[in-house]
Amino acid sequence: MAIIDERVRAYYDRRALEYDDWWLGKGLFKRRNRPGWAAEVELLTRLLEQLSPARTLDIACGTGFLTCHLRGEVVGLDQSAEMVQIAASRMPTAQVLQGDAVPLPFRDQAFDRIFTSHFYGHLLPAERVAFLAEVCRVGAQLVVVDAALRDDVDREEWQERTLNDGSCHRVYKRYFVATDLVEEFGGGTVLHEGRWFVAVAVETG
Ligand SMILES: C[S@@+](CC[C@H](N)C(=O)[O-])C[C@H]1O[C@@H](n2cnc3c(N)ncnc32)[C@H](O)[C@@H]1O
Repeated sequence: MAIIDERVRAYYDRRALEYDDWWLGKGLFKRRNRPGWAAEVELLTRLLEQLSPARTLDIACGTGFLTCHLRGEVVGLDQSAEMVQIAASRMPTAQVLQGDAVPLPFRDQAFDRIFTSHFYGHLLPAERVAFLAEVCRVGAQLVVVDAALRDDVDREEWQERTLNDGSCHRVYKRYFVATDLVEEFGGGTVLHEGRWFVAVAVETG
C-alpha cells in the first residue's frame, strides 16, 4: 500500500529548499515563539551522535539534517527527489536513495537499526501498521524521533501549512508523550523527552 497521499508527498518536494528553516528557526519560523528550541535541537543531535555505530537506515530522511549525526554505515531514504538531492549534498559519503517507506526496497534484516524522525507522527492508523511491519522485516531496532505533546497542540491534528510561496497544504500530525509512544510500540526505551521532541528506541525482534 502507498502511505502518505500524493498531495502531501508533493508538498514535501515543494518544501525541500526551505525545510531546514524549521530546524534552524529561519524564514517563516523566525517569528515563531519556540523557547529552548535551538538548545534542544543541539541536545538531540548530541544524543544521535552517542548512539552506537550501526548499519542504519533513515526512513524519510528529508534534507538529512539529523541523518548526518548518525554513526556507522548510514543509508538515507526519502520519497522526494528534492529532499534526496539536498541530503546527498549534505552527506557526500553516505548512500541517499529516493524510495518509498512501504514497501521498503531492502531485503529482510538488512539493517541493525532503523531511524526515523518526524515521519511516524504523520501516518494514519492503517499506514502505521504497514510501516511498522516493514520496519520489523528490515531492521533489528527502531529509533523514532518525533514531536512532543505541548499545551498548545492536540494529540492529533489536521494542520494547514503555508510555504514561502504562499501555497497552503493540509497535513495530518500527531504529538507524543514518550511513554505513550513506547506503549504504542508494545515496549521500548525512552531516549529523550523534552519540550519539543521525544525519542524512543524499540527492539523489533
Ligand atoms: C517532516 S519530514 C521529516 C524529514 C526528516 N526526517 C527530518 O526529521 O528532518 C517528512 C519526510 O517524509 C518524506 N516522506 C513522506 N512520505 C514518504 C514515503 N511514503 N516514503 C518515504 N518518505 C516519505 C517526505 O518526503 C519528507 O521528507
